Amino acid sequence: MESENTRAEKPAAITRKTLFKAALIATPVPLLIGQVPALARDMSAGGGPLTPTPFCDDGDDPTPPQTEGPYFKPNSPQRTVLPGTGTALTVSGFVFGLACQPLANVLLDFWQADRNGAYDNVTYNFRGHQYTNAQGAFKLTTIVPGLYPGRTRHIHVKAQAPGRPVLTTQLYFPGEPRNNTDTIFDPALLMTVRTVGTGREATFDFVLNVPGVPPTDPPTSPPPGGGTWQVGVTYQAGDQVTYGGATYRCLQGHMSQAGWEPPNVPALWQRA
Ligand SMILES: [Fe+2]
Repeated sequence: MESENTRAEKPAAITRKTLFKAALIATPVPLLIGQVPALARDMSAGGGPLTPTPFCDDGDDPTPPQTEGPYFKPNSPQRTVLPGTGTALTVSGFVFGLACQPLANVLLDFWQADRNGAYDNVTYNFRGHQYTNAQGAFKLTTIVPGLYPGRTRHIHVKAQAPGRPVLTTQLYFPGEPRNNTDTIFDPALLMTVRTVGTGREATFDFVLNVPGVPPTDPPTSPPPGGGTWQVGVTYQAGDQVTYGGATYRCLQGHMSQAGWEPPNVPALWQRA
């Protein structure tokens, strides 16, 4: 029995970040007026319209920590793909500091149950770590974890910016019945999840307790396709890049990542 559900827990607070995310998903921004009085700082001095929604949190609430649970294992393999049978799931997003600055080289160590809700404590199935790229982006390719007895559906993660303390937390899935009864569950840690074909695509942005200065360019707008191939760029089908002195044409849209260099992924790039 996983003992991670025994922690005495105050009721999970609805954080400002959660409200922002909920608002982004559910309603046009102006409808927030009058509904969310706590967001006073979003009002203009005269109580006018909300300021534009920031592309990440405004720095007052870093991603909250959660219990590690009993099944963390150090020394997971470095990999972005956790192979195994189940419903395909990708989790992607950015890691920001307190000033919304993207954080590169952040260690993200993920571990989760298999589709039956079981953790592999002997080998390293469904365990892996990776690092954010220069834009602070990450992408995990895995499966939807099964339900562990006594818990709602979740993914464990440790996040550590270079030279900073480790944040241990968990990520959750919206619409799970057990979210209402799991005392560890925190809505601030809900991923945004959509169904694509037979799989799921989830997004989540971490905010770590790392001071900094706001970026001049939002990291969510990487340079357009073209030029020399780079990690962390959203390429569209038809984009042309150069890599290793050769020219390649993009076959399907994707965000590039280390290991996906054009010669390595013929499904994504064709030599022009
Ligand atoms: Fe767990």
